[in-house]
Amino acid sequence: MNLFDLSGRVALVTGGNGGIGLGMARGLAGAGAAIVIAGRNAAKSAAAVKALEAAGARAAALEADLADAQACAALVAAAARRFGRLDILVNNAGINIRKQPQDYTIAEWNEVLATNLTSAFACAHAAYPEMKKAGGGKIINIGSMMSIFGASFVAAYAASKGGIVQMTKALATAWAKDNIQVNAVLPGWIDTELTRRAREQVEGLHDRVLARTPAGRWGVPEDHAGIAIFLASKASDFVTGAAIPVDGGYSVQG
Ligand SMILES: NC(=O)c1ccc[n+]([C@@H]2O[C@H](COP(=O)([O-])OP(=O)(O)OC[C@H]3O[C@@H](n4cnc5c(N)ncnc54)[C@H](OP(=O)(O)O)[C@@H]3O)[C@@H](O)[C@H]2O)c1
Repeated sequence: MNLFDLSGRVALVTGGNGGIGLGMARGLAGAGAAIVIAGRNAAKSAAAVKALEAAGARAAALEADLADAQACAALVAAAARRFGRLDILVNNAGINIRKQPQDYTIAEWNEVLATNLTSAFACAHAAYPEMKKAGGGKIINIGSMMSIFGASFVAAYAASKGGIVQMTKALATAWAKDNIQVNAVLPGWIDTELTRRAREQVEGLHDRVLARTPAGRWGVPEDHAGIAIFLASKASDFVTGAAIPVDGGYSVQG
């Protein structure tokens, strides 16, 4: 038996049209899963579907604004209809608004929390009956180094990503009896659109990350393919409620 085989499985990856989400989608597709990606930017999603199909995968894109919890429920239902089932949910869509806490508006706080945390709960909530019906499932929530650490410009983002870890533990304990494993991945500093903007906005960030990361480099989206396959496959059937850093050692640097 190949513990990592995902043939016949269907995965929904939110924010799967670029960055870490697409890196994970590529990994899951390579292991045999059909992929539904969700995002707001239709052109980016179409290009990602093309790339996945060119690599031999069954793939589709759905447009959704995940900051809207009702849209999350509709998205999960549509994703389950697209290939007839839903086995894997990757809650990856996320944003950051980098400002000192005193400069935040409540609307900005709510936007970050809605996109990063409430959407993950709403998608998991909607996926639960589908997974229960199928006899089990895998939910992978994307946290951050800001699930562990703080920084002056991440009040809302860190609150959302800390919340992801605690929500992961709660869902894991609730749904273990249904054979649904719920885990979190905590990426280190990965070269994506999100962190390209961070490097423009936060002086010295690029070099500070390099200096602190034992692996001696920024991560790339492909670094998340392996963890996605592990957490989506039979290989992780007794792993639940964990928060696993994929960070080149950043979080254990003394
Ligand atoms: N890069 C890092 O170093 C790093 C580190 C730790 C954690 N993370 C986390 O990893 C995840 C992916 O980030 P990334 O670095 O890959 O950034 P990214 O390239 O900017 O990707 C973010 C994704 O989220 C989607 N998205 C954002 N808001 C959305 C909304 N309201 N509705 C639907 N989709 C939405 C975007 O799709 P559209 O453009 O189509 O809206 C995009 O696909 C995020 O949760 C982020 O917090 C990243």
